[in-house]
Amino acid sequence: MCGIVGYIGNKPVYDILINGLKKLEYRGYDSSGIMIYNQKPLVKKAKGKVSDLEKLFVNSADKQGYLGIGHTRWATHGPPNQINSHPHTSNSGEITLVHNGIIENYDSIKKILTQKGYVFHSDTDSEVLVNLIEDIKKTKNVKLGKAVYFALKQVIGAYAIVVFDSKNPKEIVGARLGSPLAIGLGDSEYYFGSDATPFLEFTKRCIYLNDNEMFIVNMKKGLTLREIKRDSIIDPYIEELKQNIEEVEKGGYDHFMLKEIFEQPHSIIDTFRGRLLSYNQPISISSLKKHFEEFKNAKRIIFISCGTSWHSSLLAEYYFEELLRIPVEVEYASEFRYRNPVINKGDIVIPISQSGETADTLAAIKMAKEKGAFLYGICNVVGSSIARETHTGVYTHAGSEIGVASTKAFSCQISLLLLMALNLGQKLGTLDQKRYYRIIQELEKLPETIKTVLKSDPIVESISEKYLDAENFLYLGRGYNFPIALEGALKLKEISYIHAEGYPAAEMKHGPIALIDENMPVVVIATRKGNYHKVVSNIMEIKARGGQIIAVVSKGDVEIEKLADHIIEIPDCNELIAPILANIPLQLLSYHIANKKGCNVDQPRNLAKSVTVE
Ligand code: M6R
Repeated sequence: MCGIVGYIGNKPVYDILINGLKKLEYRGYDSSGIMIYNQKPLVKKAKGKVSDLEKLFVNSADKQGYLGIGHTRWATHGPPNQINSHPHTSNSGEITLVHNGIIENYDSIKKILTQKGYVFHSDTDSEVLVNLIEDIKKTKNVKLGKAVYFALKQVIGAYAIVVFDSKNPKEIVGARLGSPLAIGLGDSEYYFGSDATPFLEFTKRCIYLNDNEMFIVNMKKGLTLREIKRDSIIDPYIEELKQNIEEVEKGGYDHFMLKEIFEQPHSIIDTFRGRLLSYNQPISISSLKKHFEEFKNAKRIIFISCGTSWHSSLLAEYYFEELLRIPVEVEYASEFRYRNPVINKGDIVIPISQSGETADTLAAIKMAKEKGAFLYGICNVVGSSIARETHTGVYTHAGSEIGVASTKAFSCQISLLLLMALNLGQKLGTLDQKRYYRIIQELEKLPETIKTVLKSDPIVESISEKYLDAENFLYLGRGYNFPIALEGALKLKEISYIHAEGYPAAEMKHGPIALIDENMPVVVIATRKGNYHKVVSNIMEIKARGGQIIAVVSKGDVEIEKLADHIIEIPDCNELIAPILANIPLQLLSYHIANKKGCNVDQPRNLAKSVTVE
């Protein structure tokens, strides 16, 4: 996690760094710092938000300069405090570095440097790296670029770094392995960022560094890109970014999360664009068309992912097994990578990730690739590491998701997964034609249907007020709605800090029912199709024990209305589409509870948007 920014050029750097860090705060927000070079490097760091860092710049002279680097931190080594925050400076004060990642062998390097007389002030691995670079530069008598190169050959771990040497103030050096780093190309100026958002308003020309690549930007010589393992110069691949700045701003909403919830009709349109043309035209997903044989011959499909994306994977299991009749397994990437899974020829591994940077998912992909699996990635962030590491795949096109709690990305993932399953099921002949057309017709209207669901916001908000003091919540669902119960519980706990558990409704009587009393709110997803009557029985069991029931039901339901304390209606729809709709009131419920409790909805404690450490 952590966010990195940097700039070298002809513009005053202070605003570029501060505004860039604010855009990257979703990556980590426990402390931040910047270095501005103006005749000499000036480093300022603060515990807390970027707004706390800004308060340190009372003197306008401190803001002067045309070169700088900055960092917003999600602590790995050492607590969030001023000393541990970045940038870190070498013992001589000449070299400054910002780092995102983990240097695993920092302790042994630290011991060697300590014996050589280096002194360390922080608990971080990053301070070790900057001093290693300094040591190499001095002992080998090389320039910064070479020193960084030799240092990276020694370190084990993951990194995106941007480094500056005040002895050569016309140059910035950077590198990546495992953590993202992008370079924005302006007119005789260069921007650096963990993603492109810090420089999106200035330039759309961008280079995403690949693993094992490093750059040297020199104001006289321009940009040089090198492959570290082969130590060779490579040609940069310049991308023309399509994102625009409005996407990464709040647009009148109080929080990104709320904006992103309300963006969902539009996001789904983008997900379906060019793929679902109209109900009487075939679904067109080019990577599925190209790799149809792999799916046709697949013995098994394994979904790997983390967090919310894991919930999408779980729903995909229901969709794919139902519509394709191919066995599916769903794995936490973090477990999959560390056991010795059986992967056979003909297995398809599908990683799902919003950010495309999740360390465990990325590592699991590499492992599955080595074992010979065919990797089909589903990512939101275009050009992300996971998108590049997989053999092929598909983008969700949900747009930038800034709120740490995943909302629109999840809806786009599950809508796309349903579309994929329908496409493959129809081509494989495992799906009845009439059923296919019935679902497609409803799917075409999904953006409009979601707009209807969003109208329930005032009802959900008024329900939320009654549960601000709840200490626990249960979420129950069956069949297609079971993954939604898990997702609803995750959403509530991550932003409101209320303990919440999701369960398959029938599992309740195998343990969780013991928890139910008048203080236990239970959210039940009880849409009309599927196991409706069984869920009604579960609701009665909760009622009999005094639990408070918030039920998400299909419009026109009269049975549950009599039992539940609150009902939230969604349009009556096909049971495969119901989970996509039922999830939305649960997003709103979490949002309103967290917001009314005064929690930081977009940046909940201890979390970061992109989990680039294992
Ligand atoms: O970017 P990814 O989809 O790979 O991220 C996986 C999880 O870290 C993520 O879904 C996390 O659980 C969200 N904060 C949940 O809202």
